[in-house]
Amino acid sequence: MRVLGIESSCDETGAAVVEGEGGKLKLLSNDVASSADLHRQYGGVVPEIAARSHIEAINPIIQQALKDAECGWDEIDAIAVTKGPGLGGSLLVGVMTARTLAILHNKPLYGVNHVLAHTYAAFITEAKADYELPPEAPEFPLLALIVSGGHTQLVYFKDHFKYSLLGATTDDAVGEAYDKTAKILGLPYPGGPEIEKLAKKGDPNKYQLPKAKTENKYGFSYSGLKTAVLRLAQAQVGQDYNFPSHKVAEALSGGQKADIAASFNKVAIETLVDKTMRAFEEYAPKSVVISGGVSASHELREQMKSILPVRPVFADPKLCTDNGAMIAAAGYFMAKSVSPDNPRILEIIPSLSM
Ligand code: KG4
Ligand code: ZN
Repeated sequence: MRVLGIESSCDETGAAVVEGEGGKLKLLSNDVASSADLHRQYGGVVPEIAARSHIEAINPIIQQALKDAECGWDEIDAIAVTKGPGLGGSLLVGVMTARTLAILHNKPLYGVNHVLAHTYAAFITEAKADYELPPEAPEFPLLALIVSGGHTQLVYFKDHFKYSLLGATTDDAVGEAYDKTAKILGLPYPGGPEIEKLAKKGDPNKYQLPKAKTENKYGFSYSGLKTAVLRLAQAQVGQDYNFPSHKVAEALSGGQKADIAASFNKVAIETLVDKTMRAFEEYAPKSVVISGGVSASHELREQMKSILPVRPVFADPKLCTDNGAMIAAAGYFMAKSVSPDNPRILEIIPSLSM
């Protein structure tokens, strides 16, 4: 069975074709157009710019994905599209395109939860192109840590689409904390890879940044850490909390920036590792999947591998940030277990939760 996956929830327009057989997934194509360059000067995603970029990119990206997969419409068995959560204008472009294509080509349509789908990227174990894929798909019951720019959550899956949310962030997502810290340090958006690069040059033990205490033992909170970074940076340049955040970066030395990046990176990752380990001990899952944009972090990967008693499953770094492949992968398993959506009425759900 071949599924075309379409993603447009934030600033990436993605389309991909995944082939599934007997529960095994092979990636035939994966094309992504990002509008991140256009958002860079604003330090974050501008919804109107993102939506306009999706409109321009979506048809060419879908055509490219079909071409790369060497398949025509008659070889596509289903269409999967992100229905939420995400930016309203961005989601609309993907969903309206998918609805139109489903009607035009008479294909079953599946509206996918984007956050859930991040975990499904780890089910892809084969690809036509060069990817660093897990040798085997994760097994149930599985524990998933989903860490992205919009979400930070621990989920326990008994089986496909049968899950309970153990905990989530009560304020900022971890990726958002990376992006905001990067902005304070004068680094471009998206901040995660930039912080990771700079952190390698700094001392992670130079500054003691706080680890948030949460009511739920599997909950997360990253807004305090972001504020602590700002206060630390202001103090390092001899100023107090009144000093404007946009002036901090130019006043900091290269060494100070690297030490702040390293100290932030250490605390952000330690919190994720500690809570995942705690949930592992309580739930004893067969597999642990770490997914979402932040799971591209090498440091996070290394720490998880060294501490967890089972080898954690990561998707290829190219499949950790937003893409159509993860949507197609989730769509394949949905096609096996639930009825398709009506292509004439499938709605976007910008605040969809798990
Ligand atoms: O999953 P994703 O592409 O989009 C959302 O669904 O939010 O995640 C993007 C997030 C951004 O906040 C970005 O800074 C972060 O993932 N990210 C990283 C790394 N690469 C991307 N964070 C830490 N280390 C990285 N290497
Ligand atoms: Zn995402």
